Amino acid sequence: MNLSNKIQDLKNEKNAVILAHYYQEESIQDIADYIGDSLELAIRAQETSANVIVFAGVYFMAETAKILNPNKKVLIPDLNAGCSLADSCPAKDFKKLIQAHPDHKVVTYINCSAEIKAMSDYVCTSSNAIEVINSLPKNEKIIFAPDKNLGTYLIKETRREMLLWDGTCVVHEAFCYDKILDLMVEYPYAQIIAHPESETEILKIAHFVGSTSKLLKYVKEDKHEVFIIGTEAGILHQMQKEVPHKKLIPAPIQEDNSCACSECAFMKVNTLEKLYWCLKNEAPQIHLDKSTAQKALKPLEKMLNYV
Ligand code: 13P
Ligand code: SF4
Repeated sequence: MNLSNKIQDLKNEKNAVILAHYYQEESIQDIADYIGDSLELAIRAQETSANVIVFAGVYFMAETAKILNPNKKVLIPDLNAGCSLADSCPAKDFKKLIQAHPDHKVVTYINCSAEIKAMSDYVCTSSNAIEVINSLPKNEKIIFAPDKNLGTYLIKETRREMLLWDGTCVVHEAFCYDKILDLMVEYPYAQIIAHPESETEILKIAHFVGSTSKLLKYVKEDKHEVFIIGTEAGILHQMQKEVPHKKLIPAPIQEDNSCACSECAFMKVNTLEKLYWCLKNEAPQIHLDKSTAQKALKPLEKMLNYV
């Protein structure tokens, strides 16, 4: 029996569901029950009747599933699946910022730890960040963390002043503006589409900005034939399945980028083999401090009102 069949059998035996993010390796995407962006996967996690959730994504995503399902087993193929944005915002430093600005509401991007969520008034994803910010009264003072690129984009889109945390995503800040312009000369009818974690200069030239699911939808529905994709290359797997006749070009990256690719090394530590063993052994499992999880649940529940 191959690994995929063995995973299928274990899944049935244990009443498990496999949730996978678009940046997971192709074999994981192909075996998942649901693939989605952070918001869609949080919704799937909240709605599932499965006893076990296998979260094929990064740690903060699995942690979110656990916060939404404190009584379920939430597994992740590799506990080292971190996130540079989540790592950029240590709880003790963020606490000092909040204490220094007691009159500010705290809005955090879902790419952060449970401790940071527990200090937040609202959590948002790249899919509903504009709606969440716009729901706050116009004169409300706002701290936004941890992604300064998404924050800068939100300031422009919502015309709100916000105090930004200085975090970035290692993958989305690696795109090379000049090389994208070169591609535009080569493919004058191409559409540039980008995730809002990308740098401001890239977002300024993008024809469309959105979460991973919104980028996928745009490629499907837009009439153009060539797209330059400014997000992690894993999304191209589903995109190319949906639009086999269209040309999809991953946005080129700067040469001095240390990982030399637009792949998220954190996402890619999960493999099909690790997924098999995690389901078989029911480990590694996400465990959270009860009080932190309870506090983090409130802003996450608010986030789920904006879908
Ligand atoms: P999405 O919610 O758009 O899928 O983004 C998650 C992420 O980590 C992007 O780098
Ligand atoms: Fe984090 Fe960037 Fe990887 Fe997304 S792509 S999980 S933001 S490091």
